[in-house]
Amino acid sequence: MRVAALVLALMTIVADVHSQVTKRPFGKTPDGTAVDLYVLKSGGLEAHIITYGGIVQTLKVPDKSGKSADVALGFDSLDGYLHNTPYLGAIIGRYGNRIAGGKFTLDGKTYQIPRNNGTNALHGGTTGFDKAVWKAKEIPHGVELTHVSPDGDQGFPGTLTTVVRYTLVGKDLKIEYSATTDKDTVLNLTNHTYFNLAGQGSGDILQNLVKINASRYTPVDANLIPTGELAPVGGTPFDFRKPTAVGARIEADNDQLKKGQGYDHNWVLDSSGGKLAAAAEVYEPSTGRVLQVLTDQPGVQFYTGNFLDGTITGKDGKVYKRRFGLCLETQHFPDSPNHPKFPSTELKPGQKYHTVTIYRFSAR
Ligand code: GLA
Repeated sequence: MRVAALVLALMTIVADVHSQVTKRPFGKTPDGTAVDLYVLKSGGLEAHIITYGGIVQTLKVPDKSGKSADVALGFDSLDGYLHNTPYLGAIIGRYGNRIAGGKFTLDGKTYQIPRNNGTNALHGGTTGFDKAVWKAKEIPHGVELTHVSPDGDQGFPGTLTTVVRYTLVGKDLKIEYSATTDKDTVLNLTNHTYFNLAGQGSGDILQNLVKINASRYTPVDANLIPTGELAPVGGTPFDFRKPTAVGARIEADNDQLKKGQGYDHNWVLDSSGGKLAAAAEVYEPSTGRVLQVLTDQPGVQFYTGNFLDGTITGKDGKVYKRRFGLCLETQHFPDSPNHPKFPSTELKPGQKYHTVTIYRFSAR
């Protein structure tokens, strides 16, 4: 017993030596609010988190030969994020993905969220959590971000207090989301990092091998709103149960792929949510980098950067063209407030919303 305790204590000390958190200024928003950048380190891994949008600004990951590259799309300075971000790296709230017509009914009352995506509300409306400056404090191995969204913010009911903890331990970037409300409300938090495991800006992600542990997905209508059906992936370009190149079927003659202009869909995870389980894996053949996604959420939005169009110049002068990054947004299903048969996204006073997603990096 004593030996075990000693070994554990030594391991903790070693882990602490290899893990450190530092902070530096990252500019000011137009209203003068200071934004900070937190640098998290663990072994060869590095994650930079900014307090604006809770954005993952940098993710340095070694390849199979130990060479490090930044695998997250983003901007070198705050300015880029303020002006034209398609949610690069951001925390999404209050509601990830789309709400049809921006409208839902809760406890007999109808709520209207700004329609910022055609007729829909996308990613929480015009001014979502991706545009908030979060309060931050250092925690062991990471940073804790807090944002209080007032009652009626973007039309959503209830004062919502959200806490997001990013930690980098071992090979894991862990994101832990918690929230409480003072009125019945709905929420669906996620993170919108665009990964390119060959290095940000280095090319498209079509050769990446993706595996998604899901036998079903939620097909969408012309507005990218789920039809309500949980359709089997078997025999379709949506079957990623075995590792498959993103580009293998992306141009297939398939109505759903046409609607999404590629993959932009929610997969229904076989683990069905509730407890942490392997959701997806990405392997980049040229560098050997591997990303594993673990979550306790029931779904994952696999988005292949179809709307990146070369108009954005990101970090290090790199131009982000179509499909230069992929997102694996762990989540509840899109438009759940309008689909009583989908797992519920309601949160009531006295309840605690708590969910964990891990992005685990390695190389082989
Ligand atoms: C999500 C949506 C996409 C797109 C991106 C951001 O993944 O499903 O349609 O809006 O966010 O551009």
